[in-house]
Amino acid sequence: MEQTNHDILLEVKDLRTYFHMPDGVTIKAVDGVNFTLKKGRVLGIIGESGSGKSVTSRAIMQIVDRPGKIETGEIYFKGENLLDKSEKEMASLRGSQISLIFQDPNTSFNPYMTIGDQLRQAYRVHRRSAGKEECEEAVRDALKLVGISNWEEVCKCYPCQYSAGFRQRIFIAMAMIFKPDLLIADEPTTSLGITIQAEIIQALSDIKDQVGNSVIIITHDFGVVAQFADDIFVMYAGRCVEYSPKRDLLVAPRHPYTVGLLRSVPLLEVRKTRRLKSIPGFPPDMAHPPEGCPFAVRCEWAQEKCFREQPELVQISEDRLVACHYPLMDYETAQDTRLD
Ligand SMILES: Nc1ncnc2c1ncn2[C@@H]1O[C@H](COP(=O)(O)OP(=O)(O)OP(=O)(O)O)[C@@H](O)[C@H]1O
Ligand SMILES: [Mg+2]
Repeated sequence: MEQTNHDILLEVKDLRTYFHMPDGVTIKAVDGVNFTLKKGRVLGIIGESGSGKSVTSRAIMQIVDRPGKIETGEIYFKGENLLDKSEKEMASLRGSQISLIFQDPNTSFNPYMTIGDQLRQAYRVHRRSAGKEECEEAVRDALKLVGISNWEEVCKCYPCQYSAGFRQRIFIAMAMIFKPDLLIADEPTTSLGITIQAEIIQALSDIKDQVGNSVIIITHDFGVVAQFADDIFVMYAGRCVEYSPKRDLLVAPRHPYTVGLLRSVPLLEVRKTRRLKSIPGFPPDMAHPPEGCPFAVRCEWAQEKCFREQPELVQISEDRLVACHYPLMDYETAQDTRLD
């Protein structure tokens, strides 16, 4: 089946990815994810550890680790369902049209190969017959794209000779060597200091301005999405609980979980006067997800229905979706009562 909306680069519909463990237990890591990404936009996916962010990104690339399996869903990329593609077709898309920066980029480098050789190798994956000159040009362009001007010198060195932040820049260069239309960056700044974090986000933003690609940035950190994303997708227990343009979500979150996340971050201007609070409790065990809303046991507004029925993701305004039986329509009032 083909889609025709030319503004949309990626559309994920009811994606479910489960891990069937050898002991017979099924972990529902991604359990009905829906979102769209428009061309040239940045989508931030945010959620606590274990909410299924990395599994979602790996499912899009179809590189889910065993014993994981994509159970159902549709992943339209440029109007074509990636789940209908063969492994050979997917291999030709990976790196050239969709790139993924892995959560731990250090595992993606070969410590015994120079940076230049690794970039040349990445280029030759899709251009096997490329001559030396073409290869050098691609490597130079990719390194310049991430702000590395002394590229010849860098190419002769090994990854361990550089700091984590610089290595991340090189990895971004590798991911962008074919200027893919979609870059997925899974926690690209988590292990970095605050200044380097900001530099990496700035580099991703500069790349997007030059190349015009779309970006999915996965993070725990509202600071990162506040700085870089256009739209935000809040993930909880393998599902999307809120999807919204950034500003609307930061100013007036509608899902109680989003409220909880926002109250736990110090940086936002609008929340300067608020005390910081973390969300009490833990996410559900996805081997035994609850019958009702997975956030209900942690939610101060939960009512009887919330423990009984899982809320669907529904549209509450033109471009906002929320999966909550009782979305917060008056955030400021709700916020005041909660903090007393
Ligand atoms: N290889 C695996 N085998 C079994 N279960 C897995 C595997 N990888 C992921 N899972 C399950 O999927 C859930 C979601 O994992 P995922 O890595 O997507 O979380 P995440 O949101 O990226 O978390 P983090 O913020 O810590 O990176 C995990 O809690 C775990 O239960
Ligand atoms: Mg992850």
